[in-house]
Amino acid sequence: MLTREQALEAVGEVTAKYSADSLAVRDVVVKDRQVSMTVLTASEEVRPSLEAALREALARAGAETVHCRFRALDGGAGAAAAAPQGQAGGKAQPAAASSTSPVQGHGAGLDNPLLDPASGVQFIAVASGKGGVGKSTVTVNLAVALARKGKRVGIIDADIYGFSVPDMMGIENRPEIVNERVIPIERFGVKVMSMGFFVEDNSPIVWRGPMLGKMLRNFFAEIEWGELDYLLLDLPPGTGDVALDVHQIIPQSKEIIVTTPHATAAFVAARAGAMAIKTKHEIIGVVENMSYYKCSKCGEPEYIFGRGGGARLAESLHAELMAQIPLGQPDNHISEPDFSPSVYKAESETGELYLNIAEQVIQKCGR
Ligand SMILES: Nc1ncnc2c1ncn2[C@@H]1O[C@H](COP(=O)(O)OP(=O)(O)OP(=O)(O)O)[C@@H](O)[C@H]1O
Ligand SMILES: [Mg+2]
Repeated sequence: MLTREQALEAVGEVTAKYSADSLAVRDVVVKDRQVSMTVLTASEEVRPSLEAALREALARAGAETVHCRFRALDGGAGAAAAAPQGQAGGKAQPAAASSTSPVQGHGAGLDNPLLDPASGVQFIAVASGKGGVGKSTVTVNLAVALARKGKRVGIIDADIYGFSVPDMMGIENRPEIVNERVIPIERFGVKVMSMGFFVEDNSPIVWRGPMLGKMLRNFFAEIEWGELDYLLLDLPPGTGDVALDVHQIIPQSKEIIVTTPHATAAFVAARAGAMAIKTKHEIIGVVENMSYYKCSKCGEPEYIFGRGGGARLAESLHAELMAQIPLGQPDNHISEPDFSPSVYKAESETGELYLNIAEQVIQKCGR
């Protein structure tokens, strides 16, 4: 038996040898003699010896396995984002940060009342046949916009191999387990569940198709979502296994298709739309992302990636073009307490566009 206090003591022995401004350890989680933690270091050079020292000290204290996630202590987005979240491990009964924990347990049963169409939860899958067009950005910002409008919102990062939602939202802590149920992380008023919470060191996931479906089912069956109005699913690019699983597990799910204005992108994006039509999923609309760049000097739009892809795609899918989102990163600064790399502020131009999309979604879903 290894307690968290014992693990912290062992970690403290090691870190005492360093000055406080060159090193910090966060999110120390102990479960079944498995220890995981985030280590922030000012220099990368110390990492191998530091990791060895931590492993040795923790092994002496009784740890069987030790996972260290290294981040830059200052400058890096990860480090700054880690700070406001503080010591996730300080809370009662934190979840094990193990890559297998959500798969174990009560099988892949779909006993979650959320999935019962009578629950009234509106499922919206954000899809595109094409990669890199902004599905995750749209999912995250639409979810936040719906929450800003007072809705109870969740996100499932269904891009199980290529998860990006936690990083985009600036989430650094891990979910807790209470009564054998995983509590989603709440950020900007949105409950988030991602495979990224259960993977160490950004290691690649090498599961085959059926495992993906099982994982996705567990995201419903074993997660304590509470009451929700909307559950958004950030799909991986293409029309592969996960998209098929979503169609199967949540036949009532509606879809938003994301494209860029380029004709080829819209053509490829259309495949996701065609799949939605084939599987009888309602398409709420099309979001054209990276539509133009607004010149900072003259204010005129420049159509860097071409024009018209979104409108043409919407027409071919008999759906509405809900928005054209300009190019431009959110005006967020790393020093802000609720920093995130990808969430636009409500009062920014793009933030307002997302509020407008949220309004259209609310109108269409009637909730
Ligand atoms: N409107 C925008 N302006 C500037 N950058 C953007 C915009 N939308 C998205 N991006 C950036 O483009 C990149 C791809 O976006 P994102 O990850 O949301 O796409 P995706 O479709 O989810 O990609 P994937 O297919 O890999 O899952 C990210 O670095 C994101 O920050
Ligand atoms: Mg994505």
